[in-house]
Amino acid sequence: MIRAFRGEFLSVSRDPRTDPEAVRHEEDGLLVVEDGIVIARGAHADLAGRHAQVPVETLPGLIVPGFVDAHIHYPQTDRIASHGEQLLDWLERHIFPAEKAFVDKAHADAVAAFFLDELLKNGTTSALVFPTAHAQSVDALFEAALAREMRIISGKVLMDLGPEGLRDTLASGRAESEALICRWHGRGRLGYAVTPRFALASTDAQLADAGALLADHPDVLMHTHLAENLRECAEVEARFAGAADYLDVYDRFGLVTDRSVFAHGVHLSDRSCARLHESGAGIAVCPSSNLFLGSGFFDFGQADRHDLRLGLGTDVGAGTTFSLLHTQGIAYQAAQMKDERLDPFRALWLATAGSAALLHIEDRVGSLEVGQEADFVVLDPQATPLLARRTRGATLAERLFALQVLGDDRAVARTYLLGRCAWNRDKT
Ligand code: GUN
Ligand code: ZN
Repeated sequence: MIRAFRGEFLSVSRDPRTDPEAVRHEEDGLLVVEDGIVIARGAHADLAGRHAQVPVETLPGLIVPGFVDAHIHYPQTDRIASHGEQLLDWLERHIFPAEKAFVDKAHADAVAAFFLDELLKNGTTSALVFPTAHAQSVDALFEAALAREMRIISGKVLMDLGPEGLRDTLASGRAESEALICRWHGRGRLGYAVTPRFALASTDAQLADAGALLADHPDVLMHTHLAENLRECAEVEARFAGAADYLDVYDRFGLVTDRSVFAHGVHLSDRSCARLHESGAGIAVCPSSNLFLGSGFFDFGQADRHDLRLGLGTDVGAGTTFSLLHTQGIAYQAAQMKDERLDPFRALWLATAGSAALLHIEDRVGSLEVGQEADFVVLDPQATPLLARRTRGATLAERLFALQVLGDDRAVARTYLLGRCAWNRDKT
């Protein structure tokens, strides 16, 4: 089936810091979609004649590619906004008890359904997701994502040093991961990520086994946490005294490759940055989580000096919002704390094509180019009276920045998956 969408389109296919030509904007554009795939995009005046027979839906607002959340935990949905601790105590007090409940498949099904609907409501169409250590938590997420046709990457959490009720074993972690890869990787829009929780949650043997699993499956991702919070970093340093730094711990177990996605990287040595660059591994920057847990501020200046691959994550439940739109605004404020000025087009790139490249899905999603899947979001610059006042008569950059700073799910009028409307704010 062929259909077309007319409206104002904006996408940023590459990092505009180094490639200003990457910003693409059609004030009155046309996007032509066949069976969920973009087959043409350009100025309406240029394309309309060629596609005169195609039914056209006119969309109000600013249309951008669907957001790609490079790091989020679905089992923590119901523990968002849990008060009073930094990372390690927050995990013990709030998160591990909540994650234990995912031994129950019916509970996992219910949370996965709410979680994915919340992503769509916030304009997120693709995500790299932490489940729990229970294989059935992965099944629940992938089943729900398959039904919604969302592009989701996930993998059973490996944590043989975790608390009772949440820890796996070397053998069960490996066997369940292999079975899940076999069952889910490459099915529909789904992909698998080998997911050790972080260095402190696994034995050396399990970290080494994760490296071996990754080597056996070169087309899956590796997803973990890195250098997030100072106390965590101190405990890693104490346990792995022989390692050069936190990243080197993962490196020694074969976990640092161009398919590795490390969440946070708030406290990185220059040696780690050089090694990240050399390996092609990248960072999912999670500014709202870093503020919430008092972890610190990501250093964009250091990352750019080393030309690191970056994406943007909410990291719910440490993150305080499902909105990657609002997270772009928080990223701007976090960068300010290091005296860096995050450009609004670069922030949009981080949340779309940047994250997509980090997740190795940039050929499929992230910039609404011909050949890509037609996942997009209709943003409403008049979503609130304040946004309407701030964006009246504003330039494109000003409108985008106002949406990032002032916007959230209220500013997501519609979300499309494969050219099909999957969320309509005004119909629910
Ligand atoms: N490090 C290890 N586990 C977690 C987690 O669940 N959330 C965050 N933010 N950091 C972690
Ligand atoms: Zn996390």
